[in-house]
Amino acid sequence: MRAEAAKGGGDKRIEAQHKKGKLTARERIELLVDPHSFEEFDTFVTHRSSDFGLAEKKILGDGVVTGCGKINGRLVYLFSQDFTVFGGSLSEAHAEKICKIMKMAMKVGAPVIGLNDSGGARIQEGVVSLGGYADIFLLNTLASGVVPQISAILGPCAGGAVYSPAITDFTLMTKGTSYMFVTGPNVVKTVTHEQVTSEELGGAMVHASKSGVSHFACENEADVIDKLKRLLSYMPQNNCEDAPFIETNDPLDRQDERLNAIIPENPNQPYDIKEVINSVIDEGTFLEVHEEFAQNIVVGFARLGGRSIGIIANQPAVMAGVLDINSSAKGARFIRFCDCFNIPLLTFEDVPGFMPGTDQEHGGIIKNGAKLLYAYCEATVPKITVITRKAYGGAYDVMNSKHVRGDMNYAWPSAEIAVMGAKGAVEIIFKGDIANAADPEAEVQKKTDDYADKFAHPYIAAARGYVDDVIEPKSTRPRLIRAFEMLETKKDTNPPKKHGNIPL
Ligand code: HXC
Repeated sequence: MRAEAAKGGGDKRIEAQHKKGKLTARERIELLVDPHSFEEFDTFVTHRSSDFGLAEKKILGDGVVTGCGKINGRLVYLFSQDFTVFGGSLSEAHAEKICKIMKMAMKVGAPVIGLNDSGGARIQEGVVSLGGYADIFLLNTLASGVVPQISAILGPCAGGAVYSPAITDFTLMTKGTSYMFVTGPNVVKTVTHEQVTSEELGGAMVHASKSGVSHFACENEADVIDKLKRLLSYMPQNNCEDAPFIETNDPLDRQDERLNAIIPENPNQPYDIKEVINSVIDEGTFLEVHEEFAQNIVVGFARLGGRSIGIIANQPAVMAGVLDINSSAKGARFIRFCDCFNIPLLTFEDVPGFMPGTDQEHGGIIKNGAKLLYAYCEATVPKITVITRKAYGGAYDVMNSKHVRGDMNYAWPSAEIAVMGAKGAVEIIFKGDIANAADPEAEVQKKTDDYADKFAHPYIAAARGYVDDVIEPKSTRPRLIRAFEMLETKKDTNPPKKHGNIPL
């Protein structure tokens, strides 16, 4: 029976799966877990349906392989949907198998990984299949913030089925062979008369760059598995543990002269914040999340002195690093993940403010910007900020300022901490003087220079203690390593409550 189960839907369907450039459920597990570590559960489970001739069509395992295994020596629970069996469609029994491993993962305190490749609800079963989905959604929600949950989409994922990955912490998709949508191209055509392919509607790049539903668009399945393993290495097993410490060969006291010259003379000139990130962290440890989406903010995991950290950084090289709807939501979700799982936060700040315009206002920049603010405010993990250049307006407050419980707030000497840029400020507060001046342009320039001298530096904030120290850029790495070490035993709490009400 075991050998029969291993064949899934049979050789022909396995061949068809391979022809599409996809692996089978079991091949995927083999790639994912450490050799010989996989323990399968419920191999002999079959569906209990008899409608539409299903009584004669029972396949051991019922379209999903479930169990536990180890990844780099650490326990994970996983399910892998088998498209060769009823198109990986979800029956009552299939759902029960997934729920079983999720419940066990929560009791034991280990991550859940879902490898999705399914035609959705088992159509012949009707409502019991829908019930099965809802059971999974509920467990996804209950497990959220208790154990990390990661979804890989390696084939179709359509209809309500998309909501399980959407609740989980991270979603990875393969380019060309996976897609996610609530309604497929045919329904879209009927309802909105739009003509789109599955790829255009919900392929990996669409969700990685436009909707933000997917955090990683991967080249192929091997790439998905690699990224997934790397991602896990930055996370603890559950919300009561810390992420693993990995000794680094990168000297803790390493300074980088290049950082002293990285900020351009002209405040309107961009530079790439990823150069700063890569210079400061343990060499080669940056794993960017949501790389293609809302690129005006950069988020990702890294190690600093061996500790796992989450980085949030305004990106001056894209739209001057302005905060808009998408970048706010992207930052907020990442911060909340890190806070759930005890991963300290490092913020690099160079932000001219929030994005103006009707698009943004009508799209809800107010409530979306509030998500980022809320996420920073509620986070109790160690939180450090480095202001590299602009910290203007509300964005100064939002980006982990001292006022929202930033533990250590550093500024480079190039920091400009003010309500707004010098020219904009002068045009408002000296409107009358400028209008009456013999040479208005010269007057604006003179007053702008005065204002910049007075405010475009970090020392007023430092005089108040809003900035703990002004540091030489080249010394950022050693300073941050020391600060995170100092904060290692930090404890902070929020008032007891059922849960807060983040502005969704
Ligand atoms: C039962 C299914 C199935 C399903 C596929 N199969 N989807 N069986 N229930 N949902 C079976 C097919 O009958 C076929 O069986 C085998 O899986 C492979 O399917 P093919 O169509 O041959 O494969 P392909 O051409 O690659 O197309 C894949 C597909 C298509 C795009 C996924 O099968 C499809 O459109 N399926 C239906 C999708 C759907 O509408 N699902 C319900 C969505 S609503 P044989 O025996 O011939 O190999 C939903 C609600 C969730 O999911 C609710 C949560 C709240």
